[in-house]
Amino acid sequence: MCGIVGYVGSRQAVPILMDGLRRLEYRGYDSAGIAAVSGAAIERRRAQGKLSQLDALLEASPLKGTLAVGHTRWATHGKPSEENAHPHTDCTKSLVVIHNGIIENYLELKEKLVAAGHKFESETDTEVVVHLIEEKLRASGKHAKPDFNDPLLFEAVRQALNDVRGAYALAVLWAKAPGTIIAAKTSSPLVIGLGTGETFLGSDVPAFLDHTRKAVFLDDGEMAVLKAGGASFFTLAGRKVEKPVQTIAWNRSMAEKGGHKHFMIKEIYEQPESCEDSMRGRLFPLRDGVLQRETGLSPDVLKGLRQIYLVACGTAHHACMIGRYWIEDLADVPAQVEIASEFRYRQHVLGPKDLVVAVSQSGETADTLAAVRCAKEKGAKVFAVCNSVGSAITRAADYNLYTHCGPECGVASTKAFIGQLTGLVLFAVHAGVARGALKESQAREIIDDLVRIPGRIRAALKLEPRIIEIAKALHKKSNFLYIARHLNFPIAMEGALKLKEISYIHAEGYAAGELKHGPIALVDGEIPVMVIATRSRVQEKLASNVMEVRARGGQCIILASEGDKIDAGKNDFVLRLPAMDELLSPLVNVVPLQLLAYHIAVLRGCDVDQPRNLAKSVTVE
Ligand code: AGP
Repeated sequence: MCGIVGYVGSRQAVPILMDGLRRLEYRGYDSAGIAAVSGAAIERRRAQGKLSQLDALLEASPLKGTLAVGHTRWATHGKPSEENAHPHTDCTKSLVVIHNGIIENYLELKEKLVAAGHKFESETDTEVVVHLIEEKLRASGKHAKPDFNDPLLFEAVRQALNDVRGAYALAVLWAKAPGTIIAAKTSSPLVIGLGTGETFLGSDVPAFLDHTRKAVFLDDGEMAVLKAGGASFFTLAGRKVEKPVQTIAWNRSMAEKGGHKHFMIKEIYEQPESCEDSMRGRLFPLRDGVLQRETGLSPDVLKGLRQIYLVACGTAHHACMIGRYWIEDLADVPAQVEIASEFRYRQHVLGPKDLVVAVSQSGETADTLAAVRCAKEKGAKVFAVCNSVGSAITRAADYNLYTHCGPECGVASTKAFIGQLTGLVLFAVHAGVARGALKESQAREIIDDLVRIPGRIRAALKLEPRIIEIAKALHKKSNFLYIARHLNFPIAMEGALKLKEISYIHAEGYAAGELKHGPIALVDGEIPVMVIATRSRVQEKLASNVMEVRARGGQCIILASEGDKIDAGKNDFVLRLPAMDELLSPLVNVVPLQLLAYHIAVLRGCDVDQPRNLAKSVTVE
């Protein structure tokens, strides 16, 4: 999730864009760059690291011009570096592109462009776009349209994007098209700011909110031609469209959170897109498919696996607990889950046929990194499922799968968890097909269900009003129990962790079958019990757990499936989700629990995004 900005007007562009990039820094900042049209040429400044590095570079080597674009990067393809920083240029150095998103078919496009003589400088998927536009410019000129004055560039961009598959919010400058920015959007956010005699673009409104509150939000498959006097809008087919101009009422802080009160709730609502981004371009082909090609986990490696160890901390550990079920069920490989900080104390018998799967949002968690190093010392191979390209864990790993969720600003992990689960189920499916444990037809059914998950998460988000009522009723409680079984037991653990880490209420997640072996002694009218009882093979046993709790005067919050009979008591709360197959239900069942934790914490006046005693990335052991 990168940040893109653009300006065309009468003022010097660079100070405006640097300010805009600072407002978008929460969208990722492993490198940044700016390009400006200066006379008949385009000049570029790029720097690895935080924006302050680019600031220093511009201080030493200023960029002048009233037309420019800028970018702050959250790496997806290619490590954080100056070479991989945007803007990217074509072979003539007169054309630049900045991009937020993922070009799914960049490898096949790159092969064709290299064969046509294009020279690439970076490892990024984005650079394909600028050379593709260059190729169209070379060939075009015959498709000029008379009704606006930069036909060649618009037409070249339009044609290039019709060859592209994937997600993008992008902006293009051409030294031969002064005064013009061409922008386009599919799947990634892009908004145009309309000033007086100046026009802006950004990934989010904070990019230009200091200059104008008039905004036009592009929809998927739309393009824009920006000039100082305003913007015009088109479809990818080239048809002109009228777009409503909205007035942004948010203050800057709210704008950074997309109008939400906290980053955490914004990120909870981003989870459908996080799931989509984590699976993008990784579904098919299954056999010797995209996952193997992207991670290097060849069918031979997958077939030769003896044992898998999943290691992580906190929320990522809960993702591993679910991943184990999927790996054993779908790929027929014995799998163990280890808390990373404990893994290193075990005398594991590890060898080259063992795969340690390290799951981490930050890729910098000291305990998980220590476990990875321990695994490698013992000869095992390491596969990292991580949200941060170029992080320490990914540099130590043999294979990497990035979850592409963009920066997660809330300390309590939410959308990264969805990305981790998506990555783990994709790994289990691809490994199952490669090992012959899963028929392609079975794999396709699971992939079809996975593709429906973003919609199911959106349906779960609709429970928020009901969840707010429950939070109002229970936010003064001092203890909670969360119980579930099988695939959703880790979700009980995750729901409890969410509550305790942001509301400071003591909460425990337990395997429901364990209730009678001790924890039921805690049950009285004062400890609400969250029961995850959605449709599954263990649903009847959870119904018994509800009766056990009620028989002791306990109060349940029951997460159930629509259409299922639930014997709820008069003090119980029931939340219903659309019925679904249990295999992927953890990806959806976690959402109401995140929302409950969030609203209880807000009602208790807690600092939801920066809870006491916690850090976003625990880089100490
Ligand atoms: C989860 O909400 C916490 N922020 C914490 O448990 C976190 O999941 C854990 O520290 C692991 O972090 P990582 O995913 O960056 O490795």
